[in-house]
Formats: sequence, structure tokens, C-alpha cells
Amino acid sequence: MTDSLYQRLGGAQRIEAVVDDALDRHAVNPLLAPRFRGKDLPRLKVLGTQFFCAGSGGPQKYEGRDMRTAHAGMNASEQELIAAIDDFVAALQAQGVGQTEVNEVVAILYSFKGDVLRT
Ligand code: HEM
Repeated sequence: MTDSLYQRLGGAQRIEAVVDDALDRHAVNPLLAPRFRGKDLPRLKVLGTQFFCAGSGGPQKYEGRDMRTAHAGMNASEQELIAAIDDFVAALQAQGVGQTEVNEVVAILYSFKGDVLRT
């Protein structure tokens, strides 16, 4: 059987580093920074890491809200979604993640479009 995405990414430590970097990028990305101003970034990093680990096949439990609830009322745009995915691509590449895995993560993030946009 093929290794899970979690295993191929290098497990919790690498995923935590990716999420940490991606959220730091969100915080200075002109397209996203206003959304994260005043938010508890350390808490979002913990939840984001849990979400990513659990969703890629890791043993972690995600303790945050579901995607529709977490993004309800934000009226987020497609441009913001692409900006968020771009930050993850940059963070994955900075961690040396291979193109096959980067492509898988992009597809998974895109699949949340219906839950995070304009709800
Ligand atoms: C690519 C799909 C996305 C995923 C998988 C995702 C994932 C998450 C997760 C796991 C949380 C924490 C949930 C919680 O607080 O309980 C969260 C919160 C948040 N997300 Fe996203 N997100 C996505 C897209 C976006 C976009 C496009 C924006 C920009 C508008 C955004 C802005 C936020 C903000 C501002 C919060 C904090 C909400 C709060 O605490 O009030 N997210 N997201």
C-alpha cells in the first residue's frame, strides 16, 4: 500500500513547520493580512496543524470548528482562497516537500472552496 500523505510529508514535525510558515505568510500577505489582524495566531497554528495532520492521515485529533462554521460570515473571495493556497505552496516548497505532494495538498485545499467561500 502507498504511504499516507502524512507519512510522505514527513509527519507532524514537518507539517507543523509548514503550517507555522504558511500562517506567518498569511499575516504579511496584503491579500490576507486584514483577515488575520487581531486573531490568535498561535492558536490558529495549533488548530491548523491538527487539521492538516488529521486530514492527511495522521493520528492527531482536530479540535477546531468545521470549515463552514469557521469561515461563516467572512464572505471570503476566490482571490483570497488562491492567496491562501499560494502561501501554503511557498511554505511546502520552503520545507523541501516534493512536487507530487505539493500538488496533492493544493487539490485538497481547493476542495474546501465550497465550505470557505461566501458562506
Ligand atoms: C483553503 C481552505 C482553507 C482551510 C482548509 C482553512 C482552515 C482553517 C482552520 C482549520 C481554521 C481554524 C478553525 C477554528 O477556528 O476553529 C481556520 C480559521 C480561519 N480561517 Fe481558514 N481555511 C481556509 C481558507 C481560508 C481563507 C480563504 C481565508 C481568508 C478569508 C481564511 C481565513 C480564516 C480566518 C480569519 C480564520 C480565523 C477565524 C476566527 O478565529 O475567527 N481561511 N481556517
